[in-house]
Amino acid sequence: MTTETALVEKYGETLFALDAPERNRLTLLGEVFDPLSTATLTRLGVGRSARCLEVGAGTGSIARWLASQVPGGEVVATDLNEALLARLTGPNLVPLRHDVTVDPFPESSFDVIHARFVLSHLPGRLDVLRRMSSWLRPGGFLMFESFSWFPIDSSPHPAYRHAMQRWSELILSTIGTDSRWSRALPTVLAEYGLADVGAETFTRHMRGGGPLAEFWWQTLRMSRRQLIDGGYLTTQQVLDVQRLLRDPGFWDLAPAVTQAWGRR
Ligand SMILES: C[S@@+](CC[C@H](N)C(=O)[O-])C[C@H]1O[C@@H](n2cnc3c(N)ncnc32)[C@H](O)[C@@H]1O
Repeated sequence: MTTETALVEKYGETLFALDAPERNRLTLLGEVFDPLSTATLTRLGVGRSARCLEVGAGTGSIARWLASQVPGGEVVATDLNEALLARLTGPNLVPLRHDVTVDPFPESSFDVIHARFVLSHLPGRLDVLRRMSSWLRPGGFLMFESFSWFPIDSSPHPAYRHAMQRWSELILSTIGTDSRWSRALPTVLAEYGLADVGAETFTRHMRGGGPLAEFWWQTLRMSRRQLIDGGYLTTQQVLDVQRLLRDPGFWDLAPAVTQAWGRR
């Protein structure tokens, strides 16, 4: 699917703009998904003196964790957002304002490159991925994580299914975010000549009112105005899905998370 025509804005300009609710949402994102990310990074093996790159670090929970794993190394944590970077301090943590779609790094400069919930938001993501691969040292690995939308398609809850599908259409037409692309990730990594390519997709049940459902509640809340003004959902449809996501009687699959990795 091409997502590069007639985009309205870049990530963070209006949608996902950094205000207090967005900061809370990113914090929740870390609380919910860090265990999954750190388990796979640990399994792939982060050397104690590795030089790491965390792209689109957000609140920096993974960058801080990586820094704790590399006492003899360093973690460069990038983001577009200066306010997020300002909080990223630590002895072997280097915050850097860097737009991964255009700004360079020298070839072969990192042992570990990680990006979570970043690539699918970027138009031109294939080019970004190719450039990121070139920043890896021989023997180094990269790992990407992205949401994958397929559990939504089979949801037995029409209000949830419809609202999530419409939300993904909103971010696709506005920013270019492709919520379905991650399924192709291992194929792309193999085509780019990476070795030891692997991938895993995690589907999680969520209960209304639980942390994962709350993350999606906050996500829909954040986009409420654009969803309604853009004709994607009615006010009632937004209220209905929000009620569901906070109803302890609601159980359903959340969007899946795909992790994919490869070694240079
Ligand atoms: C959904 S958040 C994920 C944050 C973090 N990776 C996590 O999983 O908790 C996406 C992050 O990518 C950053 N971002 C978006 N476009 C970027 C770009 N072109 N270059 C660098 N960072 C970018 C955003 O500012 C935001 O902090």
